[in-house]
Amino acid sequence: MKNFPLIGLGIATKGSSGNTLDTFFPCISFKNIEDEFSQYYEIWDSLMSENVAEIKDAASLNIQDEGLNTAISNLNENKIIVLCRIIENQPIQTIEEAYLKLHLISYKYFAPNSLNLENLFDSLLNVAWTNQGPIELGDIDKRILSAQKNNQSLEIKSVDKFPCLTDYIIPPGVRIGDASRVRLGAYLSEGTTVMHEGFVNFNAGTLGPAMIEGRISAGVVIGKNSDLGGGCSTMGTLSGGNDIKISIGENCLLGANSGLGIPLGDNCIIEAGLYITGGSKITKYNSNNEPESVIKASELAGCNNLLFIRNSQTGAIEAKINPKSVELNEELHKN
Ligand SMILES: CC(C)(COP(=O)(O)OP(=O)(O)OC[C@H]1O[C@@H](n2cnc3c(N)ncnc32)[C@H](O)[C@@H]1OP(=O)(O)O)[C@@H](O)C(=O)NCCC(=O)NCCS
Repeated sequence: MKNFPLIGLGIATKGSSGNTLDTFFPCISFKNIEDEFSQYYEIWDSLMSENVAEIKDAASLNIQDEGLNTAISNLNENKIIVLCRIIENQPIQTIEEAYLKLHLISYKYFAPNSLNLENLFDSLLNVAWTNQGPIELGDIDKRILSAQKNNQSLEIKSVDKFPCLTDYIIPPGVRIGDASRVRLGAYLSEGTTVMHEGFVNFNAGTLGPAMIEGRISAGVVIGKNSDLGGGCSTMGTLSGGNDIKISIGENCLLGANSGLGIPLGDNCIIEAGLYITGGSKITKYNSNNEPESVIKASELAGCNNLLFIRNSQTGAIEAKINPKSVELNEELHKN
């Protein structure tokens, strides 16, 4: 993981009203970390009187990297070069900073839940994300009309505050069946497959190889070699529910259409179709496979080696010692 302070070199899209619609950061320079871009920190810092600065003269950035120079030259008229500096992990102040923090998570420089994302929703604009780039909502009718008139293709992918991850960053070694289902700010580790049914929100993701056919809500992290079955759900904390962040350990299986409202340890299985909320009363079995006690699911938070089923005869939810170890199908999951 990296640390502050840092400066992102960004390409921002301006709407016709002058609002910034998004900012793409192809390069981030960390003051205290030795890498190919750390040499730029002091130079860029000296160009900034505030934490976000428009750079009119690209040469002043003193970039030695040819690829990077090409990336920021000959920009379209609605694009500008910006520098965005973050000195400390404080609440978000600007839309550029919001985008930079989402990039920091998706580049895997910072883990989910390690950045202060206060004000994120207030900072981001609701935008039409299209094959012609982001379009300000005040302009969208005009642009649709113009596209229709001129036989142009204007495909509106979504109307949202968050764009999809792959418009900006392709994490190495991952497969994504439907790019629209992974938002910028997702943290996808090498060996992760997100199938079409899967969804990964911002500030959430996988810590190693994983199969994702269910929903990873904001703030949720999935340990390596775990498998989220088709249509399963991990409970988020953004609306309703409680504020305990859900996580899943290593080598776990959430069965198809199951749901999880507690943090899970390693090597656990939830039966297909079973939704465990924090308050669910659960009959816990001992290692002799005998019922031991009835407890709330939240008391099993973080416990390893559990198999959760709903007894099809009694309807009771049971937590047994998991007799199996979960293994990803290596061939299926090779990326
Ligand atoms: C919970 C689960 C893992 C149990 O599977 P399993 O370990 O193979 O267990 P079995 O089905 O062999 O069942 C073992 C015993 O428990 C019984 N049993 C299983 N589930 C039960 C239930 N819900 N209620 C009562 N008894 C149950 C079986 O009938 C069997 O009884 P037996 O010993 O008399 O034959 C499995 O049912 C499941 O839900 N898997 C999820 C798969 C999935 O969704 N993958 C993702 C695809 S996208």
